[in-house]
Amino acid sequence: MNNETPTDNPIVKPIKTIINMKNLVFLTGAGMSAESGISTFRDSGGLWEQYPVEAVASIEGYERDPELVQKFYNERRLQLGSVVPNEGHKLVASLEDKFHVTVITQNVDDLHERAGSQNIIHLHGELMKATSSRNPNDPNCIVTLPEDNPIIRMGDKAKDGSQLRPFIVWFGESVPMIEPAIEKVAKADILVIIGTSLNVYPAAGLLNFANAHCKIYLIDPKDVSYNPNMGIRHIMKGASEGMKELCQILQEEN
Ligand code: APR
Repeated sequence: MNNETPTDNPIVKPIKTIINMKNLVFLTGAGMSAESGISTFRDSGGLWEQYPVEAVASIEGYERDPELVQKFYNERRLQLGSVVPNEGHKLVASLEDKFHVTVITQNVDDLHERAGSQNIIHLHGELMKATSSRNPNDPNCIVTLPEDNPIIRMGDKAKDGSQLRPFIVWFGESVPMIEPAIEKVAKADILVIIGTSLNVYPAAGLLNFANAHCKIYLIDPKDVSYNPNMGIRHIMKGASEGMKELCQILQEEN
């Protein structure tokens, strides 16, 4: 055994660094993808101004008019082919070199994946996936749609023989991924909220699970209502510029 101290060992050091890496959790919403050209929901001109939310994003709406709902998501899926991750998505992914990063997103687009983020929890489903309309959370029925034909038609069947439907969590449906998301937030050393109006629960309630030592940042160009006693540092910028400022802060503080 030579007299080399373990921390000098090129193999041990990376392992030591990995063990000491802090848990960095992101909670993102539609504003994260705004600079990629995807509409938010509640900003002026947002999606819910163009479509009645209960008609296209609720289980009652699907049961009332499934063709309208299929058309709404088919249009959003086709749009995905013409948008790319923005600088904000890429900076989120780049932090995986220095932190244990988890991205908890309300977004159903695949821009975090395409930017390179590895650990993503989709709370509200995934646009490029489809599932059973009888049992939407049956893992045997969840399929990824082909990029060159990301369309669901009435008559397309899931593996259980039911009508294929978007793998989206609609208003009125449970959010199966909320428990793993709560566990991640509870263990976060740093929580960064980007581009969400914090209007929709249970996603909006996640920040209440942050522990006392967790530093919380919020990136949004507008005011967002949250509990002022939580010591949240609001970076009042868009996702890309806000993430540049956040990376600077994290570099200085860690
Ligand atoms: N960068 C960062 N944030 C932005 C940007 C931007 N460039 N542009 C807008 N925002 C902010 C807005 O100020 C707003 O606070 O993004 C937020 C978007 O809020 P919503 O439109 O309400 O979207 P979101 O919070 O993701 O909605 C939550 O509601 O309808 C459901 O399922 C849907 O997942 C969605 C959920």
